Amino acid sequence: MAYTVPKLTDYSPGALEEAASECVGACAGEAAEVRSEAELKAFRDRWMARKNGILTQINDLWLKSAPKDAKREAGIRVNELKARITETVEAAHVGGDGNSLAAEQVDISLPGVRRPIGAEHPVMRTWHEIVSVFQKLGYSVAEGPVVETDYYNFEALNFPPNHPARDTQDTLFIAGQQSKPQRERLLLRTHTSPVQIRTMEKMRPPIRIVIPGTVHRNDPPDASHSPMFHQIEGLAVDNNITFGDLKGTLDHAMKTLFGSSVKTHFRPSFFPFTEPSAELYVTCFICGGSGKRGADSCRPCKQTGWIEVLGCGMVDPNVFEFVKHNGYDPKKVSGFAFGMGVDRLALLKYGVDDIQLFFQGDVRFLQQFG
Ligand code: PHE
Repeated sequence: MAYTVPKLTDYSPGALEEAASECVGACAGEAAEVRSEAELKAFRDRWMARKNGILTQINDLWLKSAPKDAKREAGIRVNELKARITETVEAAHVGGDGNSLAAEQVDISLPGVRRPIGAEHPVMRTWHEIVSVFQKLGYSVAEGPVVETDYYNFEALNFPPNHPARDTQDTLFIAGQQSKPQRERLLLRTHTSPVQIRTMEKMRPPIRIVIPGTVHRNDPPDASHSPMFHQIEGLAVDNNITFGDLKGTLDHAMKTLFGSSVKTHFRPSFFPFTEPSAELYVTCFICGGSGKRGADSCRPCKQTGWIEVLGCGMVDPNVFEFVKHNGYDPKKVSGFAFGMGVDRLALLKYGVDDIQLFFQGDVRFLQQFG
């Protein structure tokens, strides 16, 4: 119930004190309920307005109508009460709990927290660019584990048991796996190709996927090698996929990534899981294919005018044999695959001459890409 000023009949000190403290209590209670600027204004007017505010009413009802002999005592009490009410009303604020405003002051002249705007790492930027080129062609993105079994990394990709890639020279094996059969032994995947098999086990043809990921090889770090690097794999399987589809797709991708004047060129190569296999070369975008930079020879393409950018080929029927149960009958389907090194493409794209710079985390290097 909202507080109303009672008429006083008893002007004894005890009765005045009781009436005053009831009034102060009501005022503090209302102050605590203030929830908006509008409510604050209404609250102030209710208590302080000269015309019919509660303090004015108290003046009229308690003081003016007091019997003569009680006037002095009542005057002192009412003045005291006015001071307390004024104090409470002035301290009131939105969301009020009766605390003083001063405690909640904020020094807006203090400098704020500066949050520097980050930049995408050049390797990740290249990664996203390549993925989006293929997404626009209708490819979806698949991923797989970095710690892989020998089966997916080698066996199902048609690597013969004693292939040199299985040697510890190139592959980082997880320790203590000798008691397991070879196909179950764990290793750090040396390429993203195992995800070809993993995806074909889960999805029936036709498929078109790109597989970005981290891979590891036992290479000592130098300007062009890093034990950890990034690859993007591609796989398309359907009826009647031909080498012409592979050439057209990769030619389009290279022109989108490096500019429409880039030419592509395929040279025969070998991978156990593709047949035939090829390496894709693009005209050097540093020297434009001339092999020369002014009077000097062009370093990135070793004066040849061509730069190797990826490995590719038609999926070997022996690979389909491992996923035949899921609709990949090598007599019915065909496909192509490719795999490219993201870091190498980033080096070429941004004219960086040392792959180590990508992984050292030196802000002065990375800031140049901001
Ligand atoms: N996995 C191969 C490598 O890492 C690249 C590749 C992928 C080649 C797909 C052919 C087809 O070198």
